[in-house]
Amino acid sequence: MIMIIIFPLLFSLFLLPLLFLLIARRKAPERLPPGSLGIPFIGQSFSLLWAMRANTAEKWMADRARKYGPVSKLSLFGKPTVFIYGQAANRFVFSTDSSKMSNQQTDSVRMILGDRCLLELVGEDHQRIRSALASFLKPDSLKNYVGKMEEEVRMHLQMHWHGQTNVTVMPLMKKLTFNIICSLLFGVERGARRDMFVLYFQEMIDGMWSIPVDLPFTRFNRSLKASVKVQKMLKDLIYEKRAQLASGAPSHQDLITCLLSIRGEGDQQLVSDDEIIHNVMLIMVAGHDTSSVLITFMVRVLANDPDIYAAVLREQEEIKKSVSTGDFLTWEDLGKMKYTWRVAMETLRAFPPLFGGFRKTLEDIEYQGYLIPKGWQIFWVTGMTHMDDSIFPEASKFDPARFENPASVPPYCYIPFGGGARICPGYEFAKIETLVTIHYLVTRFTWKLCCNDNCFRRDPMPVPTRGLPIQIFPKKLL
Ligand code: HEM
Repeated sequence: MIMIIIFPLLFSLFLLPLLFLLIARRKAPERLPPGSLGIPFIGQSFSLLWAMRANTAEKWMADRARKYGPVSKLSLFGKPTVFIYGQAANRFVFSTDSSKMSNQQTDSVRMILGDRCLLELVGEDHQRIRSALASFLKPDSLKNYVGKMEEEVRMHLQMHWHGQTNVTVMPLMKKLTFNIICSLLFGVERGARRDMFVLYFQEMIDGMWSIPVDLPFTRFNRSLKASVKVQKMLKDLIYEKRAQLASGAPSHQDLITCLLSIRGEGDQQLVSDDEIIHNVMLIMVAGHDTSSVLITFMVRVLANDPDIYAAVLREQEEIKKSVSTGDFLTWEDLGKMKYTWRVAMETLRAFPPLFGGFRKTLEDIEYQGYLIPKGWQIFWVTGMTHMDDSIFPEASKFDPARFENPASVPPYCYIPFGGGARICPGYEFAKIETLVTIHYLVTRFTWKLCCNDNCFRRDPMPVPTRGLPIQIFPKKLL
């Protein structure tokens, strides 16, 4: 009898409200993800940067995931942030409408690269600049520049490799990819001007991921000053290119001329001078630092694994046979470098140059039952799906065969170039320069690592110990 009275009482007093609460939460999540925002402004920024520099960032993420699960809140670079990972998270980031979620850079990146660069733009402006860049970066245009890239690679090897017994790969690959960018995208020839560019540019890039404290002697302050100098140099360059165009120079000789000559209604320049400057600076950063990491780590992979080296060499020697001495590789030759590109893809899986990125919510968004409030950052990462054994079996094993059938990789899991509307527009460019460089390296040299620790730190790009010093042995050229 007592039970008959108590049970409905309990049900109406406690269980019913609890049920309503649960249903309400499902409909309109008010729950912030677990985790702590930490000390105001600083939050977990130092701990992440520290982990990246100590090559423990993967552990940092895994510890976080173990403690809080696949969605957690924290504070990075002065902003409340939600850290998410996994296939569903990647899909969410790359496919959410840009009216709900925009790209978000750290304050330091925005202040250094400028507010009209692609990373800061949304909607129509983003599309307009992307399609302007695509007119130069699409395969049909790049086909015409394979020879120019190759010239840069040959010149680089002549100047920095031939006649040497020891070289340090990472700084040399940065030099090479920067020279390729300067030549193809900006039409700046070798010489004092390019050297000045390199100097200011390196200073500019050094502080891009630092805490944005603009005080004398901080990394960030030096970066800002260098950014002003780079912008001034680019302004002068635009002035010169405009004059060249006016006197009949071809409109596709480099990226700047190409952007200057895109016209809209009433013959108006479609991309403003500021947009050209900010996007050229972005391409300088996005284009040279990333590819140099890929090529450097491929050199390390080839030194560590004789079987992979032998297979790459076999493929490249076969292609070399069909190219007459002194001639350039053709677009068709690049198409035959299938195995070499699979090695590159596996290198990007194991050592993605970009650790991840940020988005910003433009309205309250629900994700997996949690509320991500308007104005918060979303932090997505590449490594978690790349190293997930359920997606890439034996993920810690280096195995280019994974990419024999690209359809076997589930969507939104292999993301070294990002995804969705902001997927890297420089994919083909990176592919060509990587294949051309590896072709010349393996057909002209063999090499041995000088330090075998196989470690690297992130700064924020991966940097192998001491920049990867190697001993090189030239091959007899036939
Ligand atoms: C191995 C080489 C490269 C890798 C791994 C890489 C990776 C990426 C990733 C992951 C993104 C997306 C970031 C996001 O969604 O937040 C991106 C964007 C971008 N990349 Fe690359 N990239 C590489 C080479 C290049 C090259 C060679 C260029 C130019 C010549 C370039 C230009 C850009 C630009 C302009 C964006 C911004 C796109 C936008 O916001 O719409 N990248 N890249």
